[in-house]
Amino acid sequence: MTKTKKLTLIKPDDWHLHVRDNKFLPSVLADTTKRFCRAIIMPNLVEPVTTTKLAGEYRDRIIDALPNEYKLTFDPLMTLYLTNNTKPSEIKTARDSGFVHAVKWYPAGATTNSSKGVSDIVACYDVLEAMAEEGMPLLIHGEVTDPDVDVFDREKQFIEQFLIGIIQNFPDLKVVFEHITTKDAVEFVKSAHANVGATITAHHLLLNRNAIFQGGIRPHHYCLPILKRELHREALIAAATSGDKKFFLGTDSAPHTKSTKESSCGCAGIYTSHGGIELYAEIFEKAGALHRLEAFASFHGPDFYGLPRNREKITLRKTPTPIVDEFTFGDEVCVPFRAGGQLTWSID
Ligand code: DOR
Ligand code: ZN
Repeated sequence: MTKTKKLTLIKPDDWHLHVRDNKFLPSVLADTTKRFCRAIIMPNLVEPVTTTKLAGEYRDRIIDALPNEYKLTFDPLMTLYLTNNTKPSEIKTARDSGFVHAVKWYPAGATTNSSKGVSDIVACYDVLEAMAEEGMPLLIHGEVTDPDVDVFDREKQFIEQFLIGIIQNFPDLKVVFEHITTKDAVEFVKSAHANVGATITAHHLLLNRNAIFQGGIRPHHYCLPILKRELHREALIAAATSGDKKFFLGTDSAPHTKSTKESSCGCAGIYTSHGGIELYAEIFEKAGALHRLEAFASFHGPDFYGLPRNREKITLRKTPTPIVDEFTFGDEVCVPFRAGGQLTWSID
């Protein structure tokens, strides 16, 4: 009789997460806290989190909404939303707070709630200078926003138009190229200096762009950056499972109500927190790299951010777990990734 495959690892962190706000928080925090000790909380609320004061208030609302057993242990790592008007002095305030760990650059119009994002990054150079001095990482949604650029080419164009320049101008700035989706991004990150890292989502590792059109239009597979060709997915798998410390786990789990996804103009975002580590285990197992999962999920992120590694452990087993069709999300419902299907791994 073969024993069920089992894997014990240091409890991971999620280096890119959307939990929304208020009534929506309790619906999603239970999934995250079960799997992760910490999470980088995205600041793209309807009213974006642009200051340390707002980040502190948002953090308090998150802590209030945590399941009781994680109230004292789960650490929401807050981020600020960069705008054309962010002041360099805000970076010092953010650093001194102890709870703001990064600043997010959304090019204005690139994605959900990004209209108040940056329209001119050069106008933010004094802020980037302050961030480099304070050791505050810049998290980048790396897509150009020009509507004339093909949606599948926006990440590649962003590297050429913006990223190369920023990295040359600010060699001391820590940069996380978030949710990378292309071979071009993998190659760029690998060849860049050590202050450049990248997060990779489970959905970009599991799906290529065919998944958006599988027998019809599939709004629950629509996210930004959009899913790409198979050759890009293969490059992401190679990067994630390589052991290279520049690449780490960031789910970009992004819940939306079912009604705003299943609409004539549906929102971008895929909810994956219910399989936040299990989906990666499936990917690493298939790639013959389960022995590298712990470093990707639990070591590379804190090492990059200069934070201590966690000590707590979790155990994964190769036991299938069913996934619900939908779950309560505020006073509506949300359709999770692989709804009605199953996770091939489960957590004890
Ligand atoms: O798919 C996405 N959803 N991509 C993003 O960049 C934002 C996110 C969201 O907030 O829904
Ligand atoms: Zn995101």
